[in-house]
Amino acid sequence: MDKLPGFRDFFPFPVPQKDQWEFDARAYLFGVWRRTLGTYGFKEYDGPPLEGLELFTKKSGDEIVGQLYNFEDKGGRKVAMRPEMTPTLARMVAANERQYKKPMKWFSIPQLFRYERQQKGRLREHFQLNADIIGESEIGADAELIALLIDVLRALGLSADDFVIRLSSRDAWQEFFASRATEGSDEYAFFQIIDKLERTRPEVAAEQLSALGVSIEDVQAFIEAGVPNGELEAVLDNLKARGLESFVKVDYGIIRGLAYYTGVVFEAFDKQGEFRAIAGGGRYDRLIHLISDGKTDLPALGFGMGDVVLMELLRSKGLVPEGASAADVYCLIEDETHRPMALKLIQNLRELGVRVDYSLVPLKPNKQFKQASDARVQFTLGLQCDEGPGCVTGVRIKRLADRSEEVVAYDQVGELVRKYLDECPSDANRKTN
Ligand code: HAM
Repeated sequence: MDKLPGFRDFFPFPVPQKDQWEFDARAYLFGVWRRTLGTYGFKEYDGPPLEGLELFTKKSGDEIVGQLYNFEDKGGRKVAMRPEMTPTLARMVAANERQYKKPMKWFSIPQLFRYERQQKGRLREHFQLNADIIGESEIGADAELIALLIDVLRALGLSADDFVIRLSSRDAWQEFFASRATEGSDEYAFFQIIDKLERTRPEVAAEQLSALGVSIEDVQAFIEAGVPNGELEAVLDNLKARGLESFVKVDYGIIRGLAYYTGVVFEAFDKQGEFRAIAGGGRYDRLIHLISDGKTDLPALGFGMGDVVLMELLRSKGLVPEGASAADVYCLIEDETHRPMALKLIQNLRELGVRVDYSLVPLKPNKQFKQASDARVQFTLGLQCDEGPGCVTGVRIKRLADRSEEVVAYDQVGELVRKYLDECPSDANRKTN
């Protein structure tokens, strides 16, 4: 039986086939995400993967509604797998914000589900880093979030040669629309046309726009001029003070498809334009008000960064480290009469936090050694006996990197191996491809 289309298995390193997904690579990515978010003072949260359908149909916009995995549960409730995290966050915040000091800086790494047409960079499930700031309307928060996005990508080894943040403003587009559109025409319909402009044939887009009273030439001229409005100027100045200005560019071609954005919006792309968006986000100052039916009103902003496009980009640049080793130490049992003493030693090492592997069954020494090198351990241990069967006098520690050996007393091995590993932890040996 095969897995569903658009869903992934994550295998331990090494993966059985080249194009499969690796759990170690995912763990590496999540680790970098968590560490970087920590440096910006963000706290982690999570919510349920299944929510009431209404949470998404009310607020996210038509595109996401068309992609929902939804059904009726056995209690007759209309439910949906979460296609994005923002409505869940807004729901959690609306009900509990009084317990938290503002601004709240929260992050999460949910698995999300969208019934999309499967294509490069688009699957039916993905993991998405969500970083959001709640309760701060000052533009410094927008800049902080964009700096965070840049630093997450830099922490993965990417540079200004690899990616760019395209920066835009819904306010600017709102003003543009209000000054040109026929009265009563639908603003969100206009935003959606702009969102799809790069993927729509010009004559089709021109027709759609003119139905709202807007000319395509006017739209194109506005995008081409790319004059930053006040809020974008403030973001650019803030990023400049951090030395991060080379990572962003004002680009009104970005407007974001989701319905709830209000102010500064942005998307991250690879510089070669080979992949889909790596991340996207912006301000959504009215969503919490909407979701709480007017009970809570808090400004908010955030971004989402998926693992699929990002991993494709990192792989293409050789920036995914080789999978972690399965153990630090392999204990060879070359003489079965030594097994009880070997088990005692293994137990002792594990209690010291050393990752130890060994053969569960009698095995020829050369096969055990092969297992040790497949597991990419740093050391093998071999029990030595000078005084007859079953009597262990010392332990041979072999360092696989340079094949050097030393023999130490049985009861000193644990501390010595621990010391060696502390001096050179196994992660230090993980190299990029
Ligand atoms: P989004 O633009 O829909 O925003 O998704 C953010 C990122 O998630 C995309 O740039 C892409 O990398 C990834 N992504 C989205 N859909 C898929 C898919 N089907 N397969 C693989 N990757 C995908 C949001 O979801 C907003 N809720 C983000 C946000 C957080 N805004 C404020 N806070």
